[in-house]
Amino acid sequence: MIAPQSFTVAREDRELLAGHRGRVVWFTGLSGAGKSTLANALEVALHRTQKRTYILDGDNIRRGLCKDLGFSDADRVENMRRVAEVARLFVDAGMLVLVAFISPFRAERQAARELFTPGDFLEVFVNVPLAVAEQRDTKGLYQKARSGALAHLTGIDSPYEPPLAPDLALRTDLLSIDACVERMLTLLASSQGTMPAIARPVPAPHSRCESDRAPLP
Ligand SMILES: Nc1ncnc2c1ncn2[C@@H]1O[C@H](COP(=O)(O)OP(=O)(O)O)[C@@H](O)[C@H]1O
Ligand SMILES: [Mg+2]
Repeated sequence: MIAPQSFTVAREDRELLAGHRGRVVWFTGLSGAGKSTLANALEVALHRTQKRTYILDGDNIRRGLCKDLGFSDADRVENMRRVAEVARLFVDAGMLVLVAFISPFRAERQAARELFTPGDFLEVFVNVPLAVAEQRDTKGLYQKARSGALAHLTGIDSPYEPPLAPDLALRTDLLSIDACVERMLTLLASSQGTMPAIARPVPAPHSRCESDRAPLP
C-alpha cells in the first residue's frame, strides 16, 4: 500500500488564484452527437471570460495516453478509467476540464463520478437520436460500420447506455450550439458556490510538507 504524499499548496489555493473552482464537465453521447463541438464552444466561452480550461477529447487521448487501447468492452473501460483519473488531476489543479468521450457504459460513468467530491462532476448527456447521428456521420464511421468495414461502433454493434439522471441533457438536433452553451454556463455557474474574497495565506515551506493539507480524495 502506497501512502499518499501531501503538499503545502492545496487545491483551494490554486482555485483562489484562478478565481474559480475546479470542475469536470463530462460529455457523453453517440459519435456525432456533438460532444467535441460543444466542448469546444464551451471552452471558447469560458476562455473569453478568463477561466482556466482544458479539453480531454476521446479521439486525441486515443492518439497518446490511450493509444495502446482498442474498442473492446475491457479496453473502453480502461480508457475511461485513465481519462477520469487525468480529469481528477485537472480538477485538483483548479481547472475546468471538459471531457468529450462517448463513455457508453453507465457503470463506468458512475465509477468516474465516484472519483470526485459530489458537485465536482457534471455529466452532460449530448443526446441525439441514432438516426440523426448517423445522418451527420461527421467522421464517416456509421457508413463504415453499416458496410461491415468497422466493428464495435457504439450504437451499431456496441451498446450505448443513456444516463438516467444527467446533470444536463441537451438535444443537439433541437437546440442551437449557442443555446447549449448558455445552458452549460448556467450549470457551471450554479456549481461554483461562493469563493472566499481573500486568499488564505499559503504557509511557508518547511523541510517537510504540511500534513494538514489533505491529498486527493
Ligand atoms: N446544437 C449542436 N451541438 C453540437 N453539435 C451540433 C449542434 N447542431 C449541429 N451540430 C453538428 O453536429 C456535429 C457533431 O459532431 P462532433 O462534435 O464531432 O460529435 P462527437 O464529438 O459527439 O462525435 C457537428 O458537425 C456539429 O456542427
Ligand atoms: Mg468528438
